[in-house]
Amino acid sequence: MLDNEEFLLDNAPRELTQNPLRKIWMPCKNGMPAVHIAQRRVCMTNCPTLIVLVGLPARGKTYISKKLTRYLNWIGVPTKEFNVGQYRRECLKIYKSFEFFRPDNEEGLKIRRQCAMAALNDVRQYLSVEGGQVAVFDATNTTRERRGTIVKFAEQNGFKVFFVESVCEDPDVIAQNIVQVKLGSPDYIHTNTEEAIEDFMKRIKCYESSYQPLDEVLDRDLSYIKIMDVGRRYLVNRVLDHIQSRIVYYLMNIHITPRSIYLCRHGESDLNIKGRIGGDSGLSARGKEFASRLRKFIQDQNIKDLKVWTSQMKRTIQTAECLGVPYEQWKSLNEIDAGVCEEMMYEEIQEHYPLEFALRDQDKYRYRYPKGESYEDLVQRLEPVIMELERQENVLVICHQAVMRCLLAYFLDKTADELPYLKCSLHSVLKLTPMAYGKLFNINIFLLLPSVFTVYYMMINDSFHFGFSVCC
Ligand code: F6P
Repeated sequence: MLDNEEFLLDNAPRELTQNPLRKIWMPCKNGMPAVHIAQRRVCMTNCPTLIVLVGLPARGKTYISKKLTRYLNWIGVPTKEFNVGQYRRECLKIYKSFEFFRPDNEEGLKIRRQCAMAALNDVRQYLSVEGGQVAVFDATNTTRERRGTIVKFAEQNGFKVFFVESVCEDPDVIAQNIVQVKLGSPDYIHTNTEEAIEDFMKRIKCYESSYQPLDEVLDRDLSYIKIMDVGRRYLVNRVLDHIQSRIVYYLMNIHITPRSIYLCRHGESDLNIKGRIGGDSGLSARGKEFASRLRKFIQDQNIKDLKVWTSQMKRTIQTAECLGVPYEQWKSLNEIDAGVCEEMMYEEIQEHYPLEFALRDQDKYRYRYPKGESYEDLVQRLEPVIMELERQENVLVICHQAVMRCLLAYFLDKTADELPYLKCSLHSVLKLTPMAYGKLFNINIFLLLPSVFTVYYMMINDSFHFGFSVCC
């Protein structure tokens, strides 16, 4: 046992030192940071979480898994999806027909069980060894027996389980899902449309006889959300922690109504011309020209019930004013706060704060300006904007370079390392049209005021993996 003096010494408050990159205070010993604490990430779960999808085929499970995974990664929770269908395709190589899924196909059942186990093994590796915090287990998991196996697996490994069930009886929604996703699946690559639809309907039938939905009484001890008819109703049971409540909140805000999100920066500002960052200047002559072209562009698009959002900075408000439509100002959409570097040129920052300049280059996402913000801070500040964007239909967001990068990274599933380098040039508009189930987005870029730079940008830009149309 420690004697009193030793005890006091060991429990004395430790010295603190400020991390120069993130400007976060942390304990140190002999002037050196306590590495194990400094490197710990924000953790929203006290133990890893396994999210388990439940539902018949064509109920949007993969769509939910992908979207949720993208959101959690964006807010900084390391998350990975595990799609058991992919394990099956890797194992079988060639899909023959629905017969494989028949409940009396012993061989099929064996292979399906093996695939689920292989996926769970990878889940264990990801959550226990690779530092993942959330794994999304995307499979039908329609029997209580299968869910029991998963719960046991989670208990043995110290993971929390949260079920997400999608129940939908609307034949139109199911048909839409089959046409949009399943027909593009590798399973049906060599099959014509009619045959594929017929086979898939029979595949659904194979699951129907043994489907045991989550039950209010029998499953009262499980944590889950049951999403009914694509979000018309929900049943939420035993939400156990912060991450589970965020998942529930997110899933209750998303919808699949067709709409488009338009993203652009303000028109060129007076400080842009001078090569100075931040500040709160008004539009230059070219900036005003962009604003009037934006007005024409928006009119030509003929968008139903368009909402326009700006930041609370002069340059975005001036841009919106030109549109002649109502708009809403969001403080959360303000540009990254460059702290002591506001209104400086990059060359001046390099000259006056050489260490800061070098640190930003080292880790642009986590670097925080002295008395200012980092991209990481910005993502946290923008989370309510993303949530509201998910709830809304057609929206035009007039924002700033760093802010637009953060929003775009969410929609395009870009990593924290890629995010601060996404190309968001002035005077162009991105139109994002979410797809109901399959591909997440259709994206078009409209260059309203092309310049030598924007043409060059189009040629070198590899940030977007999609075709784009140009409108000048
Ligand atoms: O230069 C325009 C600007 O919006 C600045 O206000 C902001 O600090 C900067 O872009 C963000 O871009 P980066 O992170 O590449 O410096």
